[in-house]
Amino acid sequence: MPDAGPANPLLDGLRIEPAPASTTLVIFGASGDLTKRKLLPAIYHLSRNQRLPAQFNVIGVARTPMSDDAFRAQFHDSLHEFAGLQSPDEVSTAMGRALTYLNGETDDPALYARLGACLEASRSDGVLFYLAIPPSAYGKVVEMLSRSGLTRPSTPAGWRRVIVEKPFGTDLASAQALNRELHTHLDESQVFRIDHYLGKETVQNLLVFRFANGMFEPVWNRRYIDHVQITAAETVGVEQRAGYYEGAGALRDMVQNHLMQVLALVAMEPPTAFSAETVRDRKHDVLVSIQPLMENGGGNVVRAQYRAGWVNGNQVPAYRDEPNVSRASTTETYVALKLNLDSWRWAGVPFYLRTGKRMPKRTTEIAIQFRRPPLQIFRKVSASSIAPNLLIVNVQPDEGISVRFEAKLPGSRMQLAPVMMNFRYGSAFGVAVPEAYETLLLDAMLGDPTLYARHDFVEDSWALITPAHQAWKAAAAREIPTYEAGVWGPAEADAMMAADGRAWRTL
Ligand code: BG6
Repeated sequence: MPDAGPANPLLDGLRIEPAPASTTLVIFGASGDLTKRKLLPAIYHLSRNQRLPAQFNVIGVARTPMSDDAFRAQFHDSLHEFAGLQSPDEVSTAMGRALTYLNGETDDPALYARLGACLEASRSDGVLFYLAIPPSAYGKVVEMLSRSGLTRPSTPAGWRRVIVEKPFGTDLASAQALNRELHTHLDESQVFRIDHYLGKETVQNLLVFRFANGMFEPVWNRRYIDHVQITAAETVGVEQRAGYYEGAGALRDMVQNHLMQVLALVAMEPPTAFSAETVRDRKHDVLVSIQPLMENGGGNVVRAQYRAGWVNGNQVPAYRDEPNVSRASTTETYVALKLNLDSWRWAGVPFYLRTGKRMPKRTTEIAIQFRRPPLQIFRKVSASSIAPNLLIVNVQPDEGISVRFEAKLPGSRMQLAPVMMNFRYGSAFGVAVPEAYETLLLDAMLGDPTLYARHDFVEDSWALITPAHQAWKAAAAREIPTYEAGVWGPAEADAMMAADGRAWRTL
């Protein structure tokens, strides 16, 4: 067959994208931070890109008393602050008119009666409830929605779905209890557990990269790959979130959800179809293949907390000196893990994960390091040792993929040097990468849960990390290793790598 050649990007506008049916988005926690920072800007962008149904409304629900007009003003403020919109435009003005607000207590039946009346008046086919509220309230809100009959569609074409924010539980037992609670009132097909990492363009691209290309999958295994490093580094500290973070820590906050999802996409077997259940089945297989974390006497887990230091030229306080953090806190702000997968594909290939706050640089990447070539035929002619091939998926901020390979240095001598081949989203496609929340909100409206976490994944991910928390709690010493803010984590994490004859990548 002749090569079809590259697609004409100018045809993009002619593509017919699936459009959701008429929808009302009900945001519980409408006066909160997530709504302002992420949800309202996301619906504005979706509307700008004409991805929302023609009939689309938003009902904000929260405790704070607020008029519809005040909620609309909050919408415009949040677009100004978080979507870079200097002043309202045609799209935001039209969208503002579709916003209404209800205030009330989430356990008050009267609130649900008023909500029911609003939903009836909106005559939308679909209703998407977004729980941007403290996790302790998830169960109650779902129970009240169900008792008020709001989780059942009023027309045959209708649907009712619920997006549940993280954290989904704090350990295995609480996640199981929450799943049981949700399943009492909702079918699993109605539950959308959000993990915003799955909405990131580069994370989704892992599926395309691996399974739509013929050249990577054949070498994606223990015969060719030496090890994998997944890094999620942030420069920010705990900010104003100590109330939540003190009880969470890096393992719960970043590993149990985001990094496990990324790991599953890197390590999964090829699904037989790009369907929600098949993809999620294969991802779940990865989780269950991971050997217990504490097997090596805890040697495969390193935790640490930042001391005072310098980040990006600014002096920053120690974690223990941050607002509302206990002076004796042992909450980890950094964690590094070595995971071994018991599978034919990955046996003997360690997956190293690290995440931390107050690192020198904000970057999330997946680095696949290949084995060295077996025949060092160049060792006599080239003084420098050969660097193994490396494939790097830059998840953020500089989204793209790079491959490192050896090349001959120009000149009369046979000298080798590593070079990089780079693909960058921005320059290759010339479009801005959509925000994760845009993709995920749209998928929920379309009823596609592929990029949402299924109940079994969430539970098994907790099952994996809960023993580490239990061991930390039981540890006689109540101290935690520390690292200076602005460095790449504690010496213990380097030592974990060194014990395997490896090192963390310098980023
Ligand atoms: C959130 C965590 O889920 O992810 C935060 O609660 C963290 O602590 C954030 O800062 C990181 O997300 P991103 O998209 O900035 O990598």
